[in-house]
Amino acid sequence: MNCFVKHCMLFSLLLLGIGNGEKQIGRRRAVPVLYLQGSHYEVGFDVGRIFSSMIKNFMATYENLRDFEKEYKTPDGRRAYDTTLSNMKKRYPFYVKEMQGIADGANVSFYQLFLLQMDDLIGTVNDNHIPRDDTGGCSSVGFSTPENSILGHTEDAFSETLNHFYIMSAHIIPTPEDREQGAVEERFSSLCYAGHLPGYTMGYNGNGLVFSINTLSPLVLKPGNTPRTFITRALLAAKSFYDAERILLDEGLGIGNGFSVNMIWTDSWGARQLYNVEVAPNLNANKSLLNVHKYDKEPLVHCNRYQRANVTEVVGPIIDSSAARLEAIHAHPPPKNRKDIEDIISDQTGKEFTVFQDRDTIIKTITAGVFDLAKRTWSIYINKPNVSEPVAILPIRFPMLDEAQ
Ligand SMILES: *[C@@H]1O[C@H](CO)[C@@H](O)[C@H](O)[C@H]1NC(C)=O
Ligand SMILES: *[C@@H]1O[C@H](CO)[C@@H](O)[C@H](O)[C@H]1NC(C)=O
Ligand SMILES: *[C@@H]1O[C@H](CO)[C@@H](O)[C@H](O)[C@H]1NC(C)=O
Ligand SMILES: *[C@@H]1O[C@H](CO)[C@@H](O)[C@H](O)[C@H]1NC(C)=O
Repeated sequence: MNCFVKHCMLFSLLLLGIGNGEKQIGRRRAVPVLYLQGSHYEVGFDVGRIFSSMIKNFMATYENLRDFEKEYKTPDGRRAYDTTLSNMKKRYPFYVKEMQGIADGANVSFYQLFLLQMDDLIGTVNDNHIPRDDTGGCSSVGFSTPENSILGHTEDAFSETLNHFYIMSAHIIPTPEDREQGAVEERFSSLCYAGHLPGYTMGYNGNGLVFSINTLSPLVLKPGNTPRTFITRALLAAKSFYDAERILLDEGLGIGNGFSVNMIWTDSWGARQLYNVEVAPNLNANKSLLNVHKYDKEPLVHCNRYQRANVTEVVGPIIDSSAARLEAIHAHPPPKNRKDIEDIISDQTGKEFTVFQDRDTIIKTITAGVFDLAKRTWSIYINKPNVSEPVAILPIRFPMLDEAQ
């Protein structure tokens, strides 16, 4: 994933030297994992409580948030915020409670956390200028054969996010009130940027889903509609590919901004399917625009531009960077095994933009993940995967599938 930046590149560079910037503490080889059980609010509260200092530190240094706060103070910004919050309280009240839990546990303000979830939906509300300076992004590469399925992903984010993430491994047991409003029991593990909802990065759920996300930047957004981060939060509860499609479609409202999701679905017989779905705001209907592609023998490659859906995108670094990364990725032979995937996501041949980005740039690869479905492991790297050992290897567990057998 990556987020939105307007005019803060210089500030970000300056910030690197102060606070908790990379210059001071370097690239930490640390992957915090928190195991949690409880209601949405309780789980949020524990995340907030345990990662309070990391969340506060991130919110104090994340330059985009200053921009979102400025927009929030304008009439259009405030209207977009209020409409979005009111829509989410109707559609996903239990995820709003989860955010309230994070805010209470960390002792930070809810509205700032909600602004982080709105991202470009609030950032562009008064000034949708082009070229838009959002930049960078994630690269996902995968393949699926009867022998194995591998998904590799670089988690690329604004440099302030370096050392500011954790993994939530949660078992959500909704309260009776949450159940009445549509909440279901959930089991998932997801990487999270500090203070953000889980889901908009990479992870898996207990129903057989392994996923990674790529930010996409449509030119025209729908502020007030469902933020992508709520859609990807809801995906953590998806029971099947068709259930995921229903969540992505978001009938009755529809997504406000853009992303794509790479999914490997394992069924209870052990068969696996690999998909990419591009999701965009639909300017003519109250549901998301979807483009689904299933990968059989051909490998999956996705960066931060629409490859199939007919969507007018921004121009700017996010597109230039995607073009450069796609070129570098396609210069490799098609991946046939895990080593091939590790080599591809470690690629640094690009001049300005590279697949694995650990130079002094605005957008950095903060971590990389390799999902190995035969081994049922999720390996998490801080440095290039083909020349370093994973810092953490988490098991991929599908309790709902194992139960069905
Ligand atoms: C929470 O933060 C406020 C400042 O925003 C501070 O006054 C208060 O003491 C903090 N509470 C706790 C329990 O740390
Ligand atoms: C979408 O929803 C809005 C608000 O409920 C409504 O005014 C509009 O007519 C709907 N648009 C379509 C195309 O159904
Ligand atoms: C893409 O959308 C534009 C309008 O937004 C339309 O003019 C064009 O025909 C569409 N192209 C395809 C291939 O559907
Ligand atoms: C790692 O991958 C890069 C290509 O991305 C390759 O040039 C390099 O030789 C690989 N290193 C090892 C040790 O395999």
